[in-house]
Amino acid sequence: MVNPKYHIFVCTSCRVNGKQQGLCYSKDSVQIVNNFMEEIDERDLSSEVMVTNTGCFGVCSSGPIVVVYPEGTWYGNVSPDDVEEIVEKHIEGGEIVTRLQI
Ligand code: FES
Repeated sequence: MVNPKYHIFVCTSCRVNGKQQGLCYSKDSVQIVNNFMEEIDERDLSSEVMVTNTGCFGVCSSGPIVVVYPEGTWYGNVSPDDVEEIVEKHIEGGEIVTRLQI
């Protein structure tokens, strides 16, 4: 997929040394990535939505952080249970989930 309609970035606190250390990682961000991949797959959206885990966005105290492009929407304090709502409202419905927006 070269040009996805949506690209979801999830901070998993990846460091340049390859280790995952940091607040987002300690607050289930790997589970958040997995939940996004499952939701995208279950809703048959994998041809238009890409999910990527990232390093620190520099706002750890608001983590776990999820950033959605093309809008450039930043979500904070995201939990694995919030993923379904983000996919349903934002990715499928085009509506930003304002309660999680930072
Ligand atoms: S570790 Fe996720 S924003 Fe810093």
